[in-house]
Amino acid sequence: MPWNWPLLGMLPSLFLHVHRFQERCADVLEWSGGTFLLKGPWFSNMDILGTVDPANVHFIMSANFANFPKGPEFKKIFEVLGDGIFNTDLDLWKNQRKQARALLNHEHFRKFLIKTSWEKVEKGLIPVLEHVAKQGFVVDLQDLFQRFTFDTTCILVTGYDPGCVSIEFPDVPFSKAMDEVEEALFMRHCLPESVWKLEKWLSIGHEHKLTKAWDVLDNVIGKYVSMKREELSQSRKFEGDEEGLDLLTSYINEEEGMGLDCDDKFLRDTILNFMIAGRDTTSSALTWFLWLVSTHPEVEKKIREELSSILPPKEGEKWRLFKVEELKNLVYLHSALCESLRLYPPVPFQHKAPVQPVTLPSGHYVNPKMKVMFSLYAMGRMGFIWGKDSKEFKPERWITERGTIKYEPSYKFLAFNAGPRTCLGKEVAFAQLKSVAAAIIHNYQIQVVEGHPVSPNVSVILYMKHGLKVKVTKRWT
Ligand code: HEM
Repeated sequence: MPWNWPLLGMLPSLFLHVHRFQERCADVLEWSGGTFLLKGPWFSNMDILGTVDPANVHFIMSANFANFPKGPEFKKIFEVLGDGIFNTDLDLWKNQRKQARALLNHEHFRKFLIKTSWEKVEKGLIPVLEHVAKQGFVVDLQDLFQRFTFDTTCILVTGYDPGCVSIEFPDVPFSKAMDEVEEALFMRHCLPESVWKLEKWLSIGHEHKLTKAWDVLDNVIGKYVSMKREELSQSRKFEGDEEGLDLLTSYINEEEGMGLDCDDKFLRDTILNFMIAGRDTTSSALTWFLWLVSTHPEVEKKIREELSSILPPKEGEKWRLFKVEELKNLVYLHSALCESLRLYPPVPFQHKAPVQPVTLPSGHYVNPKMKVMFSLYAMGRMGFIWGKDSKEFKPERWITERGTIKYEPSYKFLAFNAGPRTCLGKEVAFAQLKSVAAAIIHNYQIQVVEGHPVSPNVSVILYMKHGLKVKVTKRWT
């Protein structure tokens, strides 16, 4: 267990294990029975109560939601997100959530999602897989998925395709800048505020990279916004036609109807928040899922059987892509995805701070100077939540005796968050996850390169530290 040093608190232990942060959280929380107080250095206000207790999660995320806003600390750390939905509380958050939900559920966006998912799989992902399969190259699937979801998210949000998925594997500054921002944000969680602020002031280390990456993000997004304004002023594309509409167009179009003030700052913050929401979470989920499936042949076989079962008899043995609607009701595929998200949640931890001191259901007292941290990664591995086989990949645990999907409350399965701030993109994510997973599993055999090390990285998004190096072979000639 972490040792509490005079003056330094448990910071030395945190640093000693920072390279395996997620696993360390899971170990400590398991040994401590689900809740653990990490003492920060003297006078640093860095005391953190780590918890995986579902009763605490429910209390904080739902029952006492108003007492646990994201708060000013969160906003300081995530300042690059501006006043976007992730970073705001109270009315500012409430209004944005209402508008975002309306636009994400709108028929125009749904049409656009279906079209974009199909086209990027067919014209982006498949040509790369065909190429590496033909040449016998090793490919980093994680990199490929990051490129894929970066392109799809950018198209869905702005209508523009940055062209990241291609056999040339081009460097795209926008995407690289987002990686650097995420790393710097993670470091801000590990250091006392005074230290990262000093780094920022001196413009060194991660803070220096963050400042430069921030500039890149502002420039690219600024360009997209002005291009879109120009385009709309010429074509007046107000009605979503058969192809549907991207979010940026809808925001500008609906400005008056929704009582929005879509100035450039609002659009910049909105685009960046959606990009962060959609890109990394979905590619992380795809990477862990394809790794789990390719290392569990019995699961792979069942997914293939289920995919074949929705095709006419002779078509099951041929190259084929699947439409989003065709995959909607596949119970086993859905269960396998939930199981992967349980063990490898793309957002591995979250934190909150109370406005008023309060005692949690577990009996632990928290005050406004402390943070409460949920480790989602640890939550999925706890025997007392998921049973003795909690660390095993078993899609069957998500299927009821009647063969339907088993409902698990969100304060137990927290991958998409719980309570009033539940993820707004869950359906969008499942649509994308299923169409990519089905295209790959039905048409290709994925083999992880022998000896390739697989472990979680250290960031605000759960990626594989060394990527996912695989060989791809075609199943049908
Ligand atoms: C596997 C994929 C995804 C996972 C695991 C996921 C998970 C999450 C989590 C944990 C949060 C809470 C974050 C926080 O409050 O700090 C969240 C919020 C959110 N997500 Fe997702 N997400 C995914 C995909 C998406 C996609 C594709 C979109 C949009 C197209 C999206 C839109 C949002 C939005 C707008 C919020 C903010 C909700 C609010 O604060 O009211 N997500 N998501």
